Amino acid sequence: MHHPFLGWVFVCPILFILFTSLLLRGLLRHVYIIAMSSESESNLDLIHKIQDTLTQRFQIYSGIDSEDEYEYDSIEEMWQSEGMLHDNKRSTTKCNNDNDGGENDTKKWYVSSYNYWEEDSSVSPTIDGMLGGFASLTEMDIKGSKEFMDNLISSRPALNKSMKEFTPRCCECGAGIGRVSKGLLLPLGFHCDIVEVSPRLISKAPEFIGEPEASEMCSYITSGLQNFEPAKETYDVIWVQWVIGYLTDWDLVTFLKRMGRALKPGGVIVLKDNTCKKQGFVLDLNDSSVTRSLPYLLALIKETDLKIVSGDGKNMIQKEDYFPDDIFPVPMIALEVSQS
Ligand SMILES: C[S@@+](CC[C@H](N)C(=O)[O-])C[C@H]1O[C@@H](n2cnc3c(N)ncnc32)[C@H](O)[C@@H]1O
Repeated sequence: MHHPFLGWVFVCPILFILFTSLLLRGLLRHVYIIAMSSESESNLDLIHKIQDTLTQRFQIYSGIDSEDEYEYDSIEEMWQSEGMLHDNKRSTTKCNNDNDGGENDTKKWYVSSYNYWEEDSSVSPTIDGMLGGFASLTEMDIKGSKEFMDNLISSRPALNKSMKEFTPRCCECGAGIGRVSKGLLLPLGFHCDIVEVSPRLISKAPEFIGEPEASEMCSYITSGLQNFEPAKETYDVIWVQWVIGYLTDWDLVTFLKRMGRALKPGGVIVLKDNTCKKQGFVLDLNDSSVTRSLPYLLALIKETDLKIVSGDGKNMIQKEDYFPDDIFPVPMIALEVSQS
């Protein structure tokens, strides 16, 4: 016959484990919610800082969507309309009820652009596909970039030395099929890390680049820039063209900080992207991207550990002169790590 307490000897530990695991789950959920809301608050703080900087510089921070159907009063309203940022005292608009104003909506933003590039069969893995139907721009684009790079290399002794004496290493971010690597960076003698979020596009890069460079001079990294974390002091040049609009403001700032750490001493980051002139920003609902005004972009750069390179006594921020006047202005901006 069993002792009456024998059953409890087995039941008690099970109850104890059940109870503590429930308690732990609750606790973890709580910690997660606190972490998420404090992340969301710091994102909101960043947006307020950007808006304050723009106000001090007498620059607008209202914008429109690409269909020209909606006008946003502020950058904050735009990100809130995309379901990001929690409401707080300074907010003028409310979050929708069906979003959580946090991580999940940031994910939705990235899933939307990922689907656009990865799954939309209308985006062909060609130069035309990369440039949204403007393949004719590529020649002028590469020509302008080459002049900019020549100028940079000749005015930076460490970069110049690296180009002459070693195999310099660069990274093309948001590279698609590797158009800039093929046209600009490989001919300059760089080993290129090609970073791209879409597996479909990056898988076409080796064929597009061609042998022997595709195998001998390139590495391929499939990653979103919001998650890309290269090792310290890896690159002489980091080229970031026509892709920053896919990053949220807070991810763009942390991405640039990480890229700054990945630069070798004397290395540079080059941003080349569309900017808008009449509005503070234009939100593209089609592929979830945002075209920022130059002052908006510069205000974001101010929040990083980077500064604009001054070469030959002038800022290395230059309008792409070869492009037609009826498209968005495309500045090239060279950045280096601030020494402060
Ligand atoms: C307009 S194309 C430009 C491609 C290339 N930079 C060029 O100039 O030819 C934009 C590219 O950015 C990629 N992209 C979009 N969001 C990204 C992200 N979060 N991380 C990395 N790449 C991204 C797209 O898949 C696409 O290849």
